[in-house]
Amino acid sequence: MNRAAPEPKDNMGEPAPRLDGRLKVTGEARYGSDFAVGNPAHAFLVTSTIASGRIDGMDLDEAKAVPGVLEIFTHENTAELKPLKYSPGGGGPTTSIQDFGPDIKHDGQIVAMVVADTYEAAREAANKVRVRYQTKPPSATFGSAGTSEDDASEVSERAKDLPQAGDADAAYAAAEVKFEAEYATPTQHHNAIELFTTTCVWNDDKLTIYEPSQFMYGLKTNAAKNLDIDPANVHAVSPFVGGAFGSKAQFSPRTGLVALAAKRLNRPVKLVMTRDQGFTAQTYRAETRHRIRIGARRDGKIDSFTHEGWELTSRPDAYSVAGVEDSARLYGFGTVKTHVTLVHADRNTPGFMRSPPVVPYIYALENAIDELAVKLDMDPIELRRVNDSTADATGKPWSSRSLMRCYDEAAARFGWSRRQRQPGAMRDGDWLVGWGCASAVYPTHVGAATARVRLLASGKALVQVAAHDIGTGTYTVVGQMAAERLGIPLSAVTVELGDSDLPPAPVAGGSNQTASCCSAVMKACDAINTKLSQPPETVGGRAARDDKLEDKFRRLGVGAIEEYAEYLPPGSKPDAIKNLYAGQPSLGGGASGDKLMYALGAEFIEVRVHARTREIRVPRMVGAFAAGRIMNTRTAHSQYMGGMIWGVSSALHEATEIDPRVARYVNDNFADYLIPVNADIQEVDIILVPERDDFVNPVGVKGIGELANVGTAAAVANAVYHATGIRVRELPIRLEKLLTS
Ligand code: MOS
Repeated sequence: MNRAAPEPKDNMGEPAPRLDGRLKVTGEARYGSDFAVGNPAHAFLVTSTIASGRIDGMDLDEAKAVPGVLEIFTHENTAELKPLKYSPGGGGPTTSIQDFGPDIKHDGQIVAMVVADTYEAAREAANKVRVRYQTKPPSATFGSAGTSEDDASEVSERAKDLPQAGDADAAYAAAEVKFEAEYATPTQHHNAIELFTTTCVWNDDKLTIYEPSQFMYGLKTNAAKNLDIDPANVHAVSPFVGGAFGSKAQFSPRTGLVALAAKRLNRPVKLVMTRDQGFTAQTYRAETRHRIRIGARRDGKIDSFTHEGWELTSRPDAYSVAGVEDSARLYGFGTVKTHVTLVHADRNTPGFMRSPPVVPYIYALENAIDELAVKLDMDPIELRRVNDSTADATGKPWSSRSLMRCYDEAAARFGWSRRQRQPGAMRDGDWLVGWGCASAVYPTHVGAATARVRLLASGKALVQVAAHDIGTGTYTVVGQMAAERLGIPLSAVTVELGDSDLPPAPVAGGSNQTASCCSAVMKACDAINTKLSQPPETVGGRAARDDKLEDKFRRLGVGAIEEYAEYLPPGSKPDAIKNLYAGQPSLGGGASGDKLMYALGAEFIEVRVHARTREIRVPRMVGAFAAGRIMNTRTAHSQYMGGMIWGVSSALHEATEIDPRVARYVNDNFADYLIPVNADIQEVDIILVPERDDFVNPVGVKGIGELANVGTAAAVANAVYHATGIRVRELPIRLEKLLTS
């Protein structure tokens, strides 16, 4: 059973139900592939069956003979698509592997697209496309022959200035207590319920793209570049997104292919990729390795922290999450040394997946902290308290930091004081009970954003911004901001999102959207209020008492006021808005400014491990989170719950298995890719810890989408250790790892 959303209190918004809730539960919400377009042709992809090599030849005769087939697109007839420069920063394509051959750089690379009158005909024909390959032995993952390595700081913009402070080696050598360990996280795929779809319709030289997207202006401008057309002729539509988690943030090569097909055939073309195609033709979370070295005093104070990471990526692309930036700053370490190595293999390019830097890196750190607590015979919360700080090792201060308050509130709710420290001590019949905790942390990002707000004399308002509701509640919180600022009820506000004809919002990534878009909406509303409060009419030398909206409008002689606003965070480049229109968002925050801006939380987990079968259960979790102002306690509660459930998934279930001989994902379907079901999740108790931070942005929002799934896996690992005395340093934790002879 789960507790209801808490009542609003200090710096907490109303628990307003989702504005789009009714549309969603009645099936009225239109997702990318739901739009009815006239007489669509249907596309089906053909993907490579080798991971490295070259296409020698393609035999399309059998496929073309399938009744209803209209055209087959391959590398031989798609050369007019222009390559897009890969940039892992935000607005660019998912990968630099944009050719459909002849060179093959990973298993499951798109090599052809069949278009036919029906989906069935396209699928049948796709299965009859014969491709002859020259095959080279591929490198699959870490440790495979033929991989190559790069120092991430030399090839990735993101990893350029990783934190270093003092002489961590010397401090380690001198430390009273030394701890060193290695950790690993597996390949994972987003597996949103909604598949990757694209529908393209041309009207003369105007292209409409219906596609689930986390970045409307990125989709629009990259499609224009890819097709070599004027972006003014591209209209991207995505009012609802059925899960994204980063996978729909970048421009995908499939989109240009579908647009090109629709143009050639002079007919709308609809593509719905299959689940398995999404594993290889889109992005994923790559596997990581970590080595952590800590030198501490006997009282727990950490004088030396070293975190080295290894991340897998594709042959050509330097995708790096470089989460040492965050792990090195979570506590007040005396000295810090960090390094990230990129390992190139014959794989598709990884990409953003919810909480990209911190999920793997904080998993490693928060395991290590728990291990150090065991070594010091300290309570793990007290160890964190000893290392809590107002600044990082370089002296940069936090804008606000409520980590220990989160621990205290979650610990009290969880009943942590009843914990017996000795592993295996809390046995309940056949079940070994373990209690563990870990920190959650996510950088606060904010970007340049725009919005248009129109207020009518009737008291109704329309808010327009090309932002994205990827399930997070954007419609609702954007509406709440306008309602609050204009002094009207939420029911009087209409919100329009997900359309590139609206004013641009940044990519819905890095949990920046509420902070960025609400700041722009606030500015537009304030401009309306300024107009409305222009010097009032005077009666007999005194200002008329005149606070009714209708009267104000009457006095101004207008029926509506519309304001367009541009929000530019402090320190932004002056051309940030221009760049946003051009599909290049500029997100700042985290450790990049004068202060460290982060949302924080503490997660507590109870596991039960069966003494004989080693079955692992999670009956109870408590999470306390502080993330500045909370716009809506109900949607926030849902985000945090979803995050912790995903964290359990990461801890116990999820892993994409790779066949090392052929560098191929093996479990690319929902039968074999494990995620939790209701029976795996029991009590989830969420505490919203009040926090005020006026530094981060005008609305004081830190962002919550990617916070709660950060600490869970480590908390589960720590709880499993407490239950069994077995430390599992490689995710996922499955029962075979707990079998002892
Ligand atoms: Mo999030 S992975 O930045 O969509």
